[in-house]
Amino acid sequence: MKEKLEEIRLEAESELKKAPDEVSLQNVKSKFLGRKGVITEYLKRMPEVPEAERPEMGRLINQVKSFIENLFEKRLEEIKEEKKTSMLLKERVDITLPGRGIRIGGKHPITQVMEEIISIFERMGFEVVEGPEVELDYYNFEALNIPKDHPARDMQDTFYISDEIVLRTHTSPVQIRVMEKQKPPVKVIAPGKVYRCDSDVSHTPMFHQVEGLLVDEHVTFADLKGVLTEFAKLMFGANIGVRFRPSFFPFTEPSAEVDIECVICGGKGCRVCKNSGWLEILGCGMVDPEVFKSVNYDPERYTGFAFGMGVERIAMLKFGINDIRLFFENDIRFLRQFS
Ligand code: PHE
Repeated sequence: MKEKLEEIRLEAESELKKAPDEVSLQNVKSKFLGRKGVITEYLKRMPEVPEAERPEMGRLINQVKSFIENLFEKRLEEIKEEKKTSMLLKERVDITLPGRGIRIGGKHPITQVMEEIISIFERMGFEVVEGPEVELDYYNFEALNIPKDHPARDMQDTFYISDEIVLRTHTSPVQIRVMEKQKPPVKVIAPGKVYRCDSDVSHTPMFHQVEGLLVDEHVTFADLKGVLTEFAKLMFGANIGVRFRPSFFPFTEPSAEVDIECVICGGKGCRVCKNSGWLEILGCGMVDPEVFKSVNYDPERYTGFAFGMGVERIAMLKFGINDIRLFFENDIRFLRQFS
């Protein structure tokens, strides 16, 4: 029996040492020590052993038992360690590899130009104000001296929501809202989206405007000219030619349009400037006294000037783009050129 036990011990030893993973190790353990295990069988058969030999046998069996238990624990540790090492090897990260670069998007050209325009006027002391895109007829037209039957309404191709509500056709209504709330001096610009029912190479139903308003005592046309000439030069270069051409807007009197020398041909005349050598960039004028009356400003005391420009148009001239619709197609090949 002693020899048999020694045989079992050796067998258990070799099997435990060979067990490749936790599951097979557990199996080996229960093969020997489990409820139906070899050693357990031995213990059950103790009564068959002559009484005198029982203590010695018991001791031997327990020795083998604890030998197996110890070896089991040791091997279990080993297996866990092996698993960890192989995992670490498998998941090893080469921290010296350069990272994958993050693709950074760019600002849309309209956003860029919008920000540039805003920044120029901010530096001159204008404050940015905003207003609703769905606007009352009153603010979009009436208060700007465009009554319901005024022919200038046709000029604007208005989207009507109802008789009294429109999608604003310009950001001028914001100026009325500001003047209703604030006494002069007023010095604001109103950037934002505007809507007109019109669509071709130079018109989209939605586009962006920046309008400006300056009201105070003693504001003259010379101030308007100075501010807008400076703007044109900061936007298109210090050497660009600028001219003021008489025009008409219901809410300004006198009114003018500002042209810059054609950026394509330098003033010689080409297709873009229709051989005139000039390109219109904005509308402007001295605020009409009628407008002041509708916001309770005293037209005898205050004067002011206003101006408005289309951001897409400025962007087209600045970047030499001949179709406004390119801005809204979101073709990444087009947009990438501006980032
Ligand atoms: N509101 C005018 C337009 O959208 C532009 C403008 C603003 C003209 C202010 C003169 C003064 O066409």
